[in-house]
Parts: sequence; structure tokens; C-alpha cells
Amino acid sequence: MTKLRDLYKCSICGNVVEIVHTGAPALVCCGKSMDKMEAKSEDMGNEKHVPVLEPIPGGGISVKVGSVDHPMEEKHFIRFIEVLTKDRVIRAELHPGEKPAAEFCAKMEDVLEVREYCNIHGLWKSK
Ligand SMILES: [Fe+2]
Repeated sequence: MTKLRDLYKCSICGNVVEIVHTGAPALVCCGKSMDKMEAKSEDMGNEKHVPVLEPIPGGGISVKVGSVDHPMEEKHFIRFIEVLTKDRVIRAELHPGEKPAAEFCAKMEDVLEVREYCNIHGLWKSK
């Protein structure tokens, strides 16, 4: 059974979908079951993916991807960053050439999880 907020990826075409209402026991794309993505939370090697949160003085939170900025190139970039609270999923869509970072209107104490998706290295989370 799917679970609210779970993310799935098609291993053939690369489609990524997020569950916003549960229902189907499985998702199918390109004639094949989609893979549920499990977020990693520990960086290894040179490239850094774990989201880093900081409160913004005056309100909101800033999230950047990696303790060292993650690449934002045409073939390898951070596609989105999401902040999850009890009743909200706030998503920033990123593009090649931009900073691997975003600001969100949320209170630090309300944040349950922050996650980001790298088009090459998959899903990562912190908090
Ligand atoms: Fe990456």
C-alpha cells in the first residue's frame, strides 16, 4: 500500500511521483512497478547531498544542499527541495545554473523532515 508523501521513481523513464492521496497498492510506469525511493541521510565521498537547515533571522528557514554546494549542471543537479511539517509539504523546484538552496516560510520547530532529490544520486533527507 502506498503511504502519504512517499516518492516513487520509474527505473525506465525516470518519472518521479509523490503520493498526495493513498489508494493503489502499487504504482506502474512504462509497464513496470515503480520503485519506492528511500532517502539517504549520510554523505559519503566528496559530493555532499544531505540538506543543511538554518533559521533565517526574522522568520523562515533556509535549506542548502550539502555542506559543500552540490553541482547544478545540466546533467547533474538538485531537482527539488521539500520541507515537511505536520500538515504541509512545501517544495522548491530548482534548475541547472541556480544555487542548490531555497528559502521556506516555515518555523524551524514545525519541520519534521527536509528532503532533496538529486537527478543522479536520488533522495536525501535530514532532521
Ligand atoms: Fe548528486
